[in-house]
Amino acid sequence: MIRVTRRYNFSASHRLDVPALTEDENRALFGKCNNPFGHGHNYVLDVSVRGPVDERSGRAVDLADLDRLVRERILPEFHLKNLNEQIDAFRAQVPTTENIGLLIHQRLKQNWTAVFPGQWPQLEKVRIAETDRNIFEVSESR
Ligand code: NI
Repeated sequence: MIRVTRRYNFSASHRLDVPALTEDENRALFGKCNNPFGHGHNYVLDVSVRGPVDERSGRAVDLADLDRLVRERILPEFHLKNLNEQIDAFRAQVPTTENIGLLIHQRLKQNWTAVFPGQWPQLEKVRIAETDRNIFEVSESR
């Protein structure tokens, strides 16, 4: 079994704020990330898939297919967006990188079989680096 990871980039802005909490509570909870004007990140998204090596092609995944999936069906929803304002899911939920990772993982699952109809490759992991030092991983909870 082989694991293949491909890297993508997107940039977006957000503000960490829970509407149900008071201003003081939000400031205490999120610190500078609660700045009312928001701030941006250059996110690095790593998508890992796994599968056996295909005998004919010698590959575990067609990366052009993975690119098509991620670049056409995933990234446009997030790239250059204000996550709080432009993504419906984040009207009710804080756009932390934990939640962004879960949403991207969900989107990949929703679109997976349209691009990869066979048994392999399978989605293994989504990893998002918000900064060089803040890295979040989402994997299948099976
Ligand atoms: Ni942030």
